[in-house]
Amino acid sequence: MNKATRKTIIAGNWKMNKTPDEAKALISEMAPLVKDADCDVIACVPFVDLAVAQQAAEGSNIKIGAENCHWEVSGAYTGEISATMLKAMGIEYVIIGHSERRQYFGETDVTVNKRVRAALDAGLTVILCVGELKEEREQGITAELCRMQTKVALQGVTAEEMSRIVIAYEPVWAIGTGLTATADQADEVCGIIRDVIAELYSTEVAEATTIQYGGSMNDANAEELLSKVNVDGGLIGGASLVAEKFAKIVEFASK
Ligand code: PGA
Repeated sequence: MNKATRKTIIAGNWKMNKTPDEAKALISEMAPLVKDADCDVIACVPFVDLAVAQQAAEGSNIKIGAENCHWEVSGAYTGEISATMLKAMGIEYVIIGHSERRQYFGETDVTVNKRVRAALDAGLTVILCVGELKEEREQGITAELCRMQTKVALQGVTAEEMSRIVIAYEPVWAIGTGLTATADQADEVCGIIRDVIAELYSTEVAEATTIQYGGSMNDANAEELLSKVNVDGGLIGGASLVAEKFAKIVEFASK
């Protein structure tokens, strides 16, 4: 496997944090710190922050993404936002299937797949999250679980469309807990996901797909995690809310 065949991507997942004013301030603070990045830099922000974040990111190398989207184009779905709406406002990226959506909002592998399809149809690039619970790791079914989540999420996705799929391996027990997978654990599961992509598509597609690690990645552990051959970047929660920490991770990813 060869890291040179794929993009390294550092993406922030702000979750339900930052008002529009705060979002503007944070993007403006980050922009000069990450301007020399030799990797893609994305901030996925709450829906209400998208427009101001885009404005604040103008002229910088920070791209703005959303944290979810619905699978229908439009209709009677009170409170939802469609992929088409995101695309219409110039958004390029959307996170789909985050474990917090699975855990708190009834997201299933099937609805993840529907959202992935809709996002691709709208022309967006998807950051698709997969990962096991603590009990699943303890049971020894991490590989099976991640293989299954990846396969169902990618149903109906063509080899060409895989150029607009980024996968984030996010062990649920490591998210927001301060517990991080070891670099070897992250590398192992990212490698397993890469193998699934090779089985579903081809080795070429697998080698070209960016697979990130997420789960308490921060400025202290990013260097080691990112040094692994199968870890092509990070999806960063908590540490993406602090400009210097996020910039430090971007710096490690640029090496
Ligand atoms: P964390 O979140 O970095 O705060 O653990 C990661 C994520 O949920 O994407």
